[in-house]
Order: sequence, then C-alpha cells, then structure tokens
Amino acid sequence: MNKNKKTALITGANRGIGKEIAKKLINKGVQVIGTSTTKDGVKTIDDYLKGNGFGLVLNLKNTNSIAEKIKEIYQKKYSIDILINNAGIKQDNLLVKMKNKEWEDVIKTNLSSVFYLIKSIIRPMIKKRQGRIITISSVIAYIGNKGQVNYSASKSGLIGFHKSLALEVASKGITVNLVSPGFIKTRFTNTLDSVQYKKYLSNIPMKRLGKKEEIADAVIFLSSSKASYITGHTLHVNGGMYMI
Ligand SMILES: NC(=O)c1ccc[n+]([C@@H]2O[C@H](COP(=O)([O-])OP(=O)(O)OC[C@H]3O[C@@H](n4cnc5c(N)ncnc54)[C@H](OP(=O)(O)O)[C@@H]3O)[C@@H](O)[C@H]2O)c1
Repeated sequence: MNKNKKTALITGANRGIGKEIAKKLINKGVQVIGTSTTKDGVKTIDDYLKGNGFGLVLNLKNTNSIAEKIKEIYQKKYSIDILINNAGIKQDNLLVKMKNKEWEDVIKTNLSSVFYLIKSIIRPMIKKRQGRIITISSVIAYIGNKGQVNYSASKSGLIGFHKSLALEVASKGITVNLVSPGFIKTRFTNTLDSVQYKKYLSNIPMKRLGKKEEIADAVIFLSSSKASYITGHTLHVNGGMYMI
C-alpha cells in the first residue's frame, strides 16, 4: 500500500455490492480500505485486495466507535479520497409487530453511521479540496415497502442528508451523491421465497434482478473525474422499476 496513492474507504467490503466496488476500484488504480464486522470478513478483504489496501473491523451499529476507528487510518498517514457508504442491513416486520430494536438497529446502521463516518473524514477532505462521497440508498426509499418502515426511513433519510451536505461542500471540491439500486442479486435478496421473488420480478420492466457489477459500475462512474460536475444527485439503477 502506498501512502500517496488515491484511497477509497468502503464499508461492507467483504461481500456483495461492496466487494464488487472494491475490485473495480483496484482495477482503476485506487487502493481500498474495506470494512467488515468480523475478523473472517477482514481476512476475505485482505485476501482479494492482494496488497492494494487492507481490511478493517468496523461495526457501524456502534456509532460511538466510528470516529476512533477512522482516526487509526489517519494515524497510519493514509488519506481518504473516496468514501463509499455501502454497508446496510434490513430487519423486516410490519410496523405493528416491529420491535424497538429492529427500528433502532436499522436506523443506526444505515443512516446514523453515515453521519458519524462523514464527520470523521470531511475535514481532511475539505483541507485537500477534493473528495468523493457516494452512498448506497435503495429504490425502497422512493416507493416504500410493506414490512420495511425502518429500512425505507433509513434509506430516504439519506436523500435529504446528501442533498444538504452536497450544498455545504460543493465549493470545496467535494461531490456527494447516492446510488439507488433496485433488486440486486446478493445475499441481501437471497431470503425472498419464490412467491415474493415472482411478485418483485413482475414489477421490474427488465424482468430480471440486477447484478452487483451494475451497481458497482454506477459507483465507479460517480467516483471518477468524468462525474466531476455531478453532486447532490441520486443515480437510479433498477431495471426501470422506478423512474423520476
Ligand atoms: N441487494 C439489493 O437488492 C439491494 C437493493 C437496494 C439497496 N441495497 C443496499 O446495498 C448495500 C449493500 O448490500 P448488499 O446487497 O451487498 O448486501 P450484503 O451482501 O448483505 O452485504 C452487506 C454488507 O454490509 C455489512 N454490514 C452489515 N451490518 C453491518 C454493521 N453493523 N456494520 C458494518 N457493516 C455491516 C456486511 O458486513 P459483514 O458481513 O461483515 O457483517 C456486508 O459486507 C446495502 O446498503 C443495501 O441496503 C441492496
């Protein structure tokens, strides 16, 4: 790892969309610091990074630990030029049955953690007068879903957050954008039974789930110099299931 090379921090980089983003960024010559909640996850990250970065244990539910963890990266003299807030969870239940913990865990992991992470990296980015912040939202932020008041609230909360932050840092050379996936084939959607699967498919004009590569490509574009005049934007990648 080279301390002067462009570096991206990606949360949830041990599998799914985050891992795909990491692999594509490495191919573009960016080194990656990838997070996982477990040591096994960190090993997976270290294995595929092959020296183009390193893995870090980080549990976003522990919002109070985030600033300390990020400090470790700066103490090692790495900069964070690109932040990809990818990690996310769902804990589905109808509102009448939803436990307080199911609400709080999802809001903490998907929304509050983004505030703590960005607070930890924004001053050095401002000082450098360059940076890219890209966060993974969801089509559910826009259309809602039964059993997901917690998840949709967390993902739509990100929209106002990112528009406001984009305004605050636009003159500092930092862009702030969201990528909003539809239904993508990862472990996240593996839990759908065949009835749910058919129902979701019937709402996707392209008649297929998206691939994690298709989300990663959108992220790569927003992190590149080709997207230098795009900020406060949501890039929808959903096979036509939601259009604005
Ligand atoms: N797949 C879809 O259809 C879809 C659609 C719309 C939006 N999204 C969003 O896309 C993002 C990535 O999803 P995915 O499909 O790649 O899901 P995934 O395969 O389930 O991966 C989730 C990632 O989040 C990490 N994570 C979970 N809890 C965490 C915590 N408390 N602290 C830190 N990291 C945590 C996991 O790390 P560990 O394994 O180490 O816990 C894992 O790397 C999420 O934000 C999700 O909401 C996905």
